[in-house]
Amino acid sequence: MNDQPSVRHLPVLSAEVMSALDPQPGGVLLDATVGLGGHAQVWLERTTPGGRVLGFDRDRSALEAAGERLRSYGERFRPIHADYRELDSQLDSLGVALVDAALFDLGLGSHQLDQPERGFSFRFDGPLDMRFDRSRPATTAAELLAQSSEQELARIFFEFGEERQSRKIARAICEARRRTPITTAAQLADLIRRAVPASRHERIDPATRTFQALRIAVNHELDQLDEAIEAAVRRLLPGGRIAIISFHSLEDRIAKSTLRRLAEPCRCRRGDPCSCNAVMLLRLEQRRSTPCSDQEAASNPRARSARLRWGIRQ
Ligand SMILES: C[S@@+](CC[C@H](N)C(=O)[O-])C[C@H]1O[C@@H](n2cnc3c(N)ncnc32)[C@H](O)[C@@H]1O
Repeated sequence: MNDQPSVRHLPVLSAEVMSALDPQPGGVLLDATVGLGGHAQVWLERTTPGGRVLGFDRDRSALEAAGERLRSYGERFRPIHADYRELDSQLDSLGVALVDAALFDLGLGSHQLDQPERGFSFRFDGPLDMRFDRSRPATTAAELLAQSSEQELARIFFEFGEERQSRKIARAICEARRRTPITTAAQLADLIRRAVPASRHERIDPATRTFQALRIAVNHELDQLDEAIEAAVRRLLPGGRIAIISFHSLEDRIAKSTLRRLAEPCRCRRGDPCSCNAVMLLRLEQRRSTPCSDQEAASNPRARSARLRWGIRQ
C-alpha cells in the first residue's frame, strides 16, 4: 500500500493566514494541523533566520511527507505525531511554554482525500476506513456503519452532515447491511445515490454530506475543539496571533463562538467590582470571517468553502 502522499498540497488562504499571523524573524508557530506542511513552509520562509514550527498531526503519513518537504529547514521543523487535543502535555514535554502564533487548518487535507485506500472520498473505491490516525486502534467508518442503530446513523448524518434526508439514508443502509456488509466507499456512495437521487437544485453529489458526517464521527473531530483552541490561545505570547481555517459551518460555528468567548470583556455593570471573572484573552479585529477569494476558488476548487477567523492575544 502506498501510504506516502505526494507533496503537492496547496495551502488554503495562504496570504490571508500569513497576514493574520504576522510572522517575524525567529518566530515560533504552533501548527496544530500541519498536514503536508504548506503553511508551515511559508512560515519558515518568512521567519528566517531561526523561526520554528512545531507541527502536530494525527496522521503519521502526512507528517512524514511534511518532514520530507521541510527537510532543508533542519531542526527548525519539529513534527509531532499527536492530536491537537494533547497540545498542553506535548508542549510541556518539549519544554515549550509560549509561542508566537498558532494555526488550526481544520478537517482533512487533499492528501487524505486523494488516497483511495483511506476511504474518505466517494469518488474512488477503497475500504471505508476514514481514520486520520491509523496507528492506533479505533473504529473505522465500515465498523461504525455495521454497529450503529438506524437512529444513531440518522443522528450522525443529520448532526455532522446537516443532511436533511438523514433518516432515509440510515434506513437504506440498515436494509442493505442485512444482505451484505458495507465495506467500501463505492458501495456506500451507490447506495446513497439510489436512496436520495441528486436534486436539480444542488450541484454536489448526494453522498457528500453523509461522507463528511461519517468522517467527523469516526475521528470525533468536533469533540473538545473549543478546548484545544483555548489551550492554544493560552500558549500565545502577548501580541501572539491565532488563525483558524474551517471548511464547513459546524467547524466555523465552534471557531467563531470560541474566539468570541475568549475576547469577551468583563460583563459586570460598569463601576461594580468584577464578579464574572471573565479574562479577556483575545482581541478580534474583525467580526466576520474571511472567505476564500474568487481567484483562489477558481484555481483550487477545494478551497471554495474555506473561511478564516483570527485573533490577537492580549
Ligand atoms: C486541512 S489539512 C492541513 C493542511 C496543512 N495546513 C498544509 O498546509 O498542508 C488538516 C490536517 O489536520 C490533521 N488533523 C485533523 N484532526 C486533527 C487533530 N485532532 N489533531 C492533529 N491533527 C489533526 C489531518 O490529519 C490533516 O492532515
